Amino acid sequence: MIERTLSIIKPDGVERHLIGKIISKFEENELYPVRIEMKHLTQKEAEGFYDVHVGKPFFNELVSFMSSSPVVLMVLEGEDAVAKNRKIMGATNPANAEEGTLRRMYAKSIDKNTVHGSDSLENAKKEIAYFFG
Ligand code: CMP
Repeated sequence: MIERTLSIIKPDGVERHLIGKIISKFEENELYPVRIEMKHLTQKEAEGFYDVHVGKPFFNELVSFMSSSPVVLMVLEGEDAVAKNRKIMGATNPANAEEGTLRRMYAKSIDKNTVHGSDSLENAKKEIAYFFG
């Protein structure tokens, strides 16, 4: 099924000039950006986006990192986009990410893990609506 999912290139990816490489990887795998915006999130925007993680030990650091410098927000479209994006990204913790995945290639730590992707079709719809209406 053709789906849409939300992808974010996090501050560590933007700062290290990995935008082009990351988008190429999606396109090579037939996931195509249909919306793109570079944005410096406010603390409030980052908190709202990650509200499912409120109260978790990593929440404050996550919000502060995600609002520290600009991110690239993207809607990716393609066959099985949600699952495919997660496969391309690899595990949340780069130490566990498979060879060839974005996080294995580029992420430095579980906090600075370079990309975010929606984890279900339901959350993809919410996350896309959160940033793109
Ligand atoms: P992301 O997919 O953006 O969703 C929440 C983020 O919290 C996650 O990627 C990680 O960068 C960060 N994080 C930090 N510690 C943890 C943890 N123990 N479990 C899950 N996510 C974590």
